[in-house]
Amino acid sequence: MPNFSYDKSAALLERAKKVMAGGVSSEFRKYNHPHAIFYTHGRGSRIVDVDGNEYIDFTLSQGPLILGHSHPHVLKSVSDYSRDGQLFAGQHLREIELAEKLQQLIPSAERLRFCLDGSEAVQTAFRIARAKTGRSKFLRFEGHYHGWLDNVSWGISTPSVDALGSREHPNVFPWSEGLPDRSKDEFITLPWNDLDLVRQTLAESAADIAAIITEPVMCNNGCIPPAAGFLEGLRALCDQYGIVLIFDEVITGFRLSLGGAQQHFGVTPDLSIFAKALASGYPISAVVGKQSWMDAIEQARVIHAGTMNAGNPTVAAALATIEVLEQEHPYPRMFQLGQELMEGLRNAAHDAGIPVLVQGMGPMFHISFTTKKALTDYRDTLTVDRTRLNEFIEGMHDEGIRIIGRGLFYISAAHTPADISRAIEASRAVMKGISG
Ligand SMILES: Cc1ncc(COP(=O)(O)O)c(C=O)c1O
Repeated sequence: MPNFSYDKSAALLERAKKVMAGGVSSEFRKYNHPHAIFYTHGRGSRIVDVDGNEYIDFTLSQGPLILGHSHPHVLKSVSDYSRDGQLFAGQHLREIELAEKLQQLIPSAERLRFCLDGSEAVQTAFRIARAKTGRSKFLRFEGHYHGWLDNVSWGISTPSVDALGSREHPNVFPWSEGLPDRSKDEFITLPWNDLDLVRQTLAESAADIAAIITEPVMCNNGCIPPAAGFLEGLRALCDQYGIVLIFDEVITGFRLSLGGAQQHFGVTPDLSIFAKALASGYPISAVVGKQSWMDAIEQARVIHAGTMNAGNPTVAAALATIEVLEQEHPYPRMFQLGQELMEGLRNAAHDAGIPVLVQGMGPMFHISFTTKKALTDYRDTLTVDRTRLNEFIEGMHDEGIRIIGRGLFYISAAHTPADISRAIEASRAVMKGISG
């Protein structure tokens, strides 16, 4: 086991706290082990912190680094394009090239607009849906994350399973103080993967519902694939009621395939959101969709704007990322490596006598400490053993394996079989120390 110290990070955190609220720039960064960590650099599958600790990075900066850290082609393109300028408050050729590429790759991308991040692209999609349908609410699912803005900061945290109440009419809890109470009236929440419930709710309330928004694979609590026929069922119901089907592909986009989950599962939404892995860590997102919905923006009935949208460096990063993904086509390898790691973790836990569930697709997957054979919705994820998960995450971190704190692993094109073997070896040591 490496002998990690976190002293320099601890000192920087104290300094940061005197100037940055909580010492961090995003809430999630607080919850590292043993506290927020400061990094110096990342290359390929590795990241190094200020104490000189090196980690095999399975967080990939919460998903964006599909090619790993500091991919040379991405860095060179960003540097080359930046020499021509950063931001024109006007259009440029490479922006069209990127849009044409996305149109070619993503099944639903007849038209698109670029934004900066997933949160604002989600809100753009809602605005289009409301404008086009004349209805006010969206239907969403418990435990799905669609950004940190007011109307989606509900239904992602909860005191207990029991507090959620009935499956038909769940209670929702705010994730933050300061949310306008009326933001709760903008949506209806249901447990995921239960098409009958969606059908029943639409039969009662379709007249109020502009859109259904879903992560096509539930990745923000567990890593839960859609039940057989669920996405297809949502598609059919949206068609039946004239409701917009929105796939939030912020995680699945460019992670499951170049055409996202919609290509992987063969279900085409009306609108979808791409962000994270689109540009290897540079801030760009896209709301993409069928012409018949996106025409609301085209006609300026729906306003979408942003000073920083589609700047030269971010467009360069996205084009370069896609070029590498198209050339190398790393998807079969990422699936294979992910599945090997999933199997290795299962075996390590089995040999240590610890019940775990390792669930997911390969390029992203999740470990939970439970005797359940599968997690199918948010309510299931609330029943797992958090203490053991924390022990595992912290133990792996001290072994030089960095995993997202909720138990999610991302695989990049930069991970190697040796990285996977090392992670499995570390998990064997860690599992042995997990409380019985
Ligand atoms: C599925 C999903 N949607 C939306 C968002 C918000 O994206 P961003 O953090 O870029 O605003 C996230 C972020 O993790 C996400 O996972």
